[in-house]
Amino acid sequence: MFRINENFLKLSAGYLFPEIARRVALFAAENPAVAARIIRCGIGDVTEPIPAAAADAMRKAIDDLTRRESFHGYPPPAGYDFVRAAIAQGDFRSRGCDIADDEIFLSDGSKPDASAILEILGVGNRVAITDPVYPVYADTNVMAGNSGGALEGGGYAGFTYLPSTPQNDFSPALPTTDVDVIYLCSPNNPTGVVLDHAALTRWVQYARAQGAVILFDAAYEAFIRTAGIPHSIYEIDGATECAIEFRSFSKVGGFTGVRCGYTVMPKALCTTTSAGKRVSLHALWTRRWSTCSNGVSWPVQCAAAALYSPAGREQTRALTDFYLANARLISRACESMGLKTYGATNSPYVWMTCPVGLGSWDAFDLLLREAQVVTTPGAGFGRCGEGFIRISAFQSRENIEEVVRRLAVLAPSATR
Ligand code: MLT
Repeated sequence: MFRINENFLKLSAGYLFPEIARRVALFAAENPAVAARIIRCGIGDVTEPIPAAAADAMRKAIDDLTRRESFHGYPPPAGYDFVRAAIAQGDFRSRGCDIADDEIFLSDGSKPDASAILEILGVGNRVAITDPVYPVYADTNVMAGNSGGALEGGGYAGFTYLPSTPQNDFSPALPTTDVDVIYLCSPNNPTGVVLDHAALTRWVQYARAQGAVILFDAAYEAFIRTAGIPHSIYEIDGATECAIEFRSFSKVGGFTGVRCGYTVMPKALCTTTSAGKRVSLHALWTRRWSTCSNGVSWPVQCAAAALYSPAGREQTRALTDFYLANARLISRACESMGLKTYGATNSPYVWMTCPVGLGSWDAFDLLLREAQVVTTPGAGFGRCGEGFIRISAFQSRENIEEVVRRLAVLAPSATR
């Protein structure tokens, strides 16, 4: 009899965003008269066109494929050299981070990378995740066998949860038990809050002292506007010896459908096998890519590289400014009703405290039912997310202005 990976049976519920989509579809089916009014501010899926620089590069790359002289077959598994160089220079060396071109590995996005990384990390690592957390980090570790069963009230046995709450300014304290793998995300999904230099320095020093690895998700880096906030973990001394960074073009370049991201795997990052041998993760990751992937398509890599051109830079800045302005509109509307919000300044997400007496799913239901606005209940991101909802600013301006009007159903005076 063949076997399945029984770790999947430990997963306590469906993946958060399909579950929200299911509830919204049910609501739409039961309420056809208002279904067309639904505005989606749940999953952070972009709405605005990709930058012209990327579109032009993609068109030209498709033309290349129509001619024998410029045809491209299998790409190098980790990406074309010119794309890796544009990234290493544009995102890292230009900020003083010592990252070489061949430490960049192109992929179809940071979500698949966050999952694939577990293939080169051993089973049984003790995993620390923030609470609330982007559910991919938790679920992939459950699937990989790094957790116990689901706990009553949320979460999984075996994980070290790092509460991120208003009380600690969403900057979690270091764990009090030993951990091997630490997930950090800044600007944070879902809270929208950033980790400053001092906080990241504490984490890097801790990881180096513990022999732990930090998996640093910087998918929302392009939204950082506050001066002095690190854009990469490699801005912190010693981080190349203890951290892997994930980046994505989904939000900065509108690539949620195009699909492209990358992982930074520094050559300085090493660990020791159970037999005492020193091993480079870069070598393992290179081996993994060459075996398991045929890389990212020529048109998509050309589009990604074009985001680093002067025109591409200007256009991505305008795109991220647009979504940030949306976030500010949402945040101001909530605050004017006396609802406390976080994020929005350096992030396309608004993390909002639910009105008194409402839990996350209550607020989600209320907004769907009364306002036809889809949000994400904070409880879906973990126990500490209860009492919050996340509102995504990835929408057209027209829709955000409409959302701002409809949020009035949350006002204390609104009849329910
Ligand atoms: C989110 O809404 O949290 C993200 O868009 C999900 C993702 O990037 O996979």
